[in-house]
Amino acid sequence: MNERVLVTGGTGYIGSHTVVELINSGCETVVVDNLSNSRIEVLDGISSITGTRPAFDKVDVCDLDRLRECCRKHQGIKAVVHFAAFKAVGESVEKPLEYYRNNLISLMNLLLVMREFEIPGLVFSSSCTVYGQPDRLPVTEESLIKPAASPYGNTKQICEEIIRDTIAASPAMKAISLRYFNPVGAHPSAVIGELPSGTPLNLVPYITQTAIGLREHLRVFGNDYDTPDGSGIRDYINVVDLARAHVKAIERLLENRCRQPYEVFNLGTGKGSSVFEIIRTFEEATGERLNWKLYPRRPGDIACVYADASLANRELGWKADTPLDETLRSAWNWEKNIRRTMKR
Ligand code: UD1
Repeated sequence: MNERVLVTGGTGYIGSHTVVELINSGCETVVVDNLSNSRIEVLDGISSITGTRPAFDKVDVCDLDRLRECCRKHQGIKAVVHFAAFKAVGESVEKPLEYYRNNLISLMNLLLVMREFEIPGLVFSSSCTVYGQPDRLPVTEESLIKPAASPYGNTKQICEEIIRDTIAASPAMKAISLRYFNPVGAHPSAVIGELPSGTPLNLVPYITQTAIGLREHLRVFGNDYDTPDGSGIRDYINVVDLARAHVKAIERLLENRCRQPYEVFNLGTGKGSSVFEIIRTFEEATGERLNWKLYPRRPGDIACVYADASLANRELGWKADTPLDETLRSAWNWEKNIRRTMKR
């Protein structure tokens, strides 16, 4: 596939891994990002892995004129992968308006320019958060979409609805929403990975920052859930596996293999792991000992969620198959590498 693909938020965590996989598959990528939560050096990482430096425009997707300018400059874009969005659940409760404004306007701007520049395909970065605590596990795409527990979750639900309605009214456009479970790990080169600004909110970056000595101990949020060991269970998916699913989705869109103009796929491993299992696997995979302490449940957390990813397995011809220990080792190697680099 040697098409030109626009990647918004392409210097971010999942965005950068996806750019690498798109380049590896032969695509020409155009990255736009406002660098509000990522670093320009990520482009060096991408080029050292792939041998190709993606085109980059520092653009806030909320700025319609700049977005238009970018599409004019890079004529012939065939598809967009849209990552650029705010994603912190807690912050979204404190700043709902900022979340709605940023996440909704950026998507609507994109859909507008896709129409204007006749870009036929969109892959949207969605989340399993749209399901809340599902009634039945594993979660299929048919599961009920529950009222969102946070403004962040609500933006994902609303964005999916905006896409669905827009696609229904636009015969020349198709879209795929990918609902991620818990993306973790880093590229095996350890040259790109997740770099949260400030204190990490997610489990795995908190673990690696604790192991390297930046945090005193990991806080385990609750051991009284209705799960075998009492800690929360999630479906942790390797970020490179996840990135590859985006390439499959782009291929499906551009090779006209979609069964419907708008499709939705869960992206997970199909297996849940508890917080204690993650700690144990991390220690075994890296040889590091992790300090941790028990804390009360984190407000808003659910007990258990993991994917039924069989639709993506079947329809996209994709499977998340990197073993968890390898994924956690990759997160650790990235943590060590980035701290070394930042010290220089
Ligand atoms: C969170 C978001 C979700 C988002 C996803 C992106 C919330 C409520 N949900 O998912 O919307 O799509 O990140 O990756 O924030 N844990 C600890 N100690 C920590 C951090 C986490 O014990 O320091 C536990 C949590 O209680 C949970 C598990 O680890 O059981 C995973 O937490 P996390 O990595 O934050 O992901 P989610 O909460 O599932």
